[in-house]
Amino acid sequence: MAKDTFYITTPIYYVNAIPHVGSAYTTIVADVIARWHRLHGEKVFFLTGVDEHGAKQQKSAEEAGIDTQTYVDSMAPHFRELWQALNISNDDFIRTTEERHKRAVVPFLEQLQRNDDVYTARYEGWYCVRCEEFKTDTDVVDGNCTVHGTPVEWLAEDNHFFRLSKYNDRLIELYEKHPEFLQPKRAYNEMFALLKQGLIDTPISRRIKWGIPFPGDPEQVVYVWVEALTNYITAIGYERDPEMFDRIWPADVHLMAKEIVRFHAVIWPAMLMSLDLPLPKHVFAHGWLLAGGEKISKSGRGITDLQPRELIATYGVDAYRYHFTRGIKLGGDDASFSLEDMHARYTADLVNGLGNLASRTLAMVDRYFGGVVPSSEAAGDPEKALLADAENADGAAMSRMEAFEVTQAFDAVWEVVRRANAYLVEREPWKLAKDEAQLPLVGAVLATTAHVLGHLAALLSPVMPTATQELWSRLGYDGAPSLRPPSPVGHTVRAGDPLFPRLEA
Ligand code: MSP
Repeated sequence: MAKDTFYITTPIYYVNAIPHVGSAYTTIVADVIARWHRLHGEKVFFLTGVDEHGAKQQKSAEEAGIDTQTYVDSMAPHFRELWQALNISNDDFIRTTEERHKRAVVPFLEQLQRNDDVYTARYEGWYCVRCEEFKTDTDVVDGNCTVHGTPVEWLAEDNHFFRLSKYNDRLIELYEKHPEFLQPKRAYNEMFALLKQGLIDTPISRRIKWGIPFPGDPEQVVYVWVEALTNYITAIGYERDPEMFDRIWPADVHLMAKEIVRFHAVIWPAMLMSLDLPLPKHVFAHGWLLAGGEKISKSGRGITDLQPRELIATYGVDAYRYHFTRGIKLGGDDASFSLEDMHARYTADLVNGLGNLASRTLAMVDRYFGGVVPSSEAAGDPEKALLADAENADGAAMSRMEAFEVTQAFDAVWEVVRRANAYLVEREPWKLAKDEAQLPLVGAVLATTAHVLGHLAALLSPVMPTATQELWSRLGYDGAPSLRPPSPVGHTVRAGDPLFPRLEA
């Protein structure tokens, strides 16, 4: 069976603390992309999960004074539950302590060994437990990791190494032939420079307790990052369900933030090359959300008391998703999250923009036409032009989505919201309605904006699944929002409360 599924992944998150707005960011963007592809009729597999092995989890469990398995068991549900609260439509959720994962990691490594890509040597160097990463001198300033600003450890261990250097040339070739492999350009340039400098072999085992025993050497465990990367294949049937694996692999996109791009765009493809497996089509590394100028993180410097759940409680899950899709430019610079921005965007775009367009349209259909969408026969050029804009928005958004310009894709859709509101202000159907002779025109105006709203409900459903479903039903459409909705003329609509209530600052 050939690949027939669009496959998107988030990183698997460490469970040493509860998820925050940063972890939620990647997950929401991935969900928007997954839903967009489903909306366009594609089969989609959207994977997320948690990374539960390694020194960092072991240490957190020790600090909590409980055994590590009990600790990770208690933390994983926080992620599952937040994703539910955020309406994340993942098809699977993998935990790396699950049997299906552990069992598949072993043949993965054995295959590397058979290919003579693994050898034993001594590692002497720095290690940052926070990053779970072997560090070079340039990554360490005054004994601190440059990412976390916390002390690194000196390791002197006999480890198993992967012959990463052997794949240097093939990686360069990959980058040259397929610049789309790693996006955006900034990440590409950085990694390409690294490849040009020359790669050195890298340890793939650790002498710690908490992990998957290294094949053939029970004294050591598999280095957590190597094991974590394989989640992308162990979850979809690698060495377990070849039919499923072939339908889904390779990933269309691995989405993440920039600090883990080397693992995904250098080490991971090199290992896949060794195993002769197809490579992911795209790796996309977005910037960081900042708090007080620092990367928001579960612990350390950029800690924030902003809780996704509190924001959801205030603004609703759709507005939360909307803010992070449109308010933070995917692939742009690091961005400070600000409550003021979120509130202003909520009011301008959702209350006064989409919400107002919907409530005006539905209320006037109610008031002047007894709640039934009137005929559009009197439609003239402005109505036809507006409807054409709504019909064309899908194509404009699609070309952006294909380039992972998710924010700009929805900017293009939002242009229709803006135009439709401007059109209503210009047409002033509420004034026209005072003159009986103008009622056919009023009808055409409202039939047009109702139809445009149908298009918008579909196009915005990946971002705001709940509000758009509500809008779609209020417009008298059945089922879930779908692209190219037929004209709603003759539909009985429901006005109801505002889709987005006005909130105090
Ligand atoms: N466990 C590894 C990933 C293994 S994937 C095979 C890991 N986990 S993590 O919990 O630290 O999550 C890192 C990821 O969370 C980032 O790459 C990003 O996707 C997301 N983010 C965490 N903090 C973030 C910000 N402040 N801003 C943007 N994204 C954030 O690394």
